[in-house]
Amino acid sequence: TLPAKRIAITGAAGQICYSLLFRIAKGDVYGPDQPVILQLLDIPQAMEALRGVLMELEDCAFPLVQGIVATDDPVTAFKDADAVFLVGSRPRSKGMERADLLAVNAEIFKVQGKALNEAASRDAKVIVVGNPANTNAAILAAHAPDFPAANITAMLRLDHNRFLSQLATKADVAVRDIEKAAVWGNHSPSMFPDWSNAQANGKAISQLIGDEAWYRETLIPTVAKRGSAIIEARGASSAASAANAAIDHMHDWINGTDGKWVSMGVPSDGSYGIPEGLICGVPVTCEGGVYTRVEGIEIDDFARKMIDLTCAELKDELDAALGR
Ligand code: NAI
Repeated sequence: TLPAKRIAITGAAGQICYSLLFRIAKGDVYGPDQPVILQLLDIPQAMEALRGVLMELEDCAFPLVQGIVATDDPVTAFKDADAVFLVGSRPRSKGMERADLLAVNAEIFKVQGKALNEAASRDAKVIVVGNPANTNAAILAAHAPDFPAANITAMLRLDHNRFLSQLATKADVAVRDIEKAAVWGNHSPSMFPDWSNAQANGKAISQLIGDEAWYRETLIPTVAKRGSAIIEARGASSAASAANAAIDHMHDWINGTDGKWVSMGVPSDGSYGIPEGLICGVPVTCEGGVYTRVEGIEIDDFARKMIDLTCAELKDELDAALGR
């Protein structure tokens, strides 16, 4: 059998992880033949709840699980990790200002960046899910100078999947037949779902749907406000779909996308006018464990305006988190 992959997961006692851990343990990230060791992190106050989750993981008797570590120490959690899911973060509490929220999370991701730098495998692939995801990822990278910055990514995949699903329904095509859909920018209501290159079965989605007003006035706000709509309906934020998106992101990064575009938050290289230093949603393809930004996309005036808006928000958020 293959040597086990070590998968570190933070926020392990939380909602998203209540779905995520069990799917990872089943083999949904690396595949059905790859044994895994789960290295779970949460804060000291959550250790008792985490003990309960651990009992449930044991009770699943997953054949692929070779070990489980549960800890409140980031260095222990990240030790030799091959894949890192950073799900835990501080939600806004009553009376908390946005700047305070950003500062509290900046502190968490500073500590975790240092731990990543110290303990994780240099090949580890990292996804930040905990909000504000893009900014947390940028802070993490800033505190992990010896860790390859390209391997620190943020999750835009939930927005991407929401976008695909809305397009498929409207165009009456299968999700799997849609190619070249992209979500740009920050994981926030400012993100930009871009249909300008999207196709289904070789035909432009925009022509199949033939309703630009629907795209601008219904689809974009629907994707942007989907998180709030779910909170309103469910009384709790998206968890299973967020876990699913995190798995899709990591699975595709590791196993490849066969030329298909997916959206990932990755460190900007300055292309498409996105300022360097940001971790920004862009379309990528993945092959051989490496993602590659899709190059040469034509950006029309509307897309330019939308990308600039979301990047300006991202820059502002990062400045605030850094106290600049
Ligand atoms: P939750 O509140 O149920 O769980 C969060 C867990 O993180 C808790 O167990 C908490 O104790 C833990 N935690 C807090 N600080 C920590 C630290 N320093 N180290 C380790 N663990 C820590 O939240 P839920 O629903 O699981 O969501 C987690 C995060 O994911 C939230 O920030 C949420 O906004 C974000 N999210 C991001 C999405 C995206 O598309 N990027 C989509 C949905 C949620």
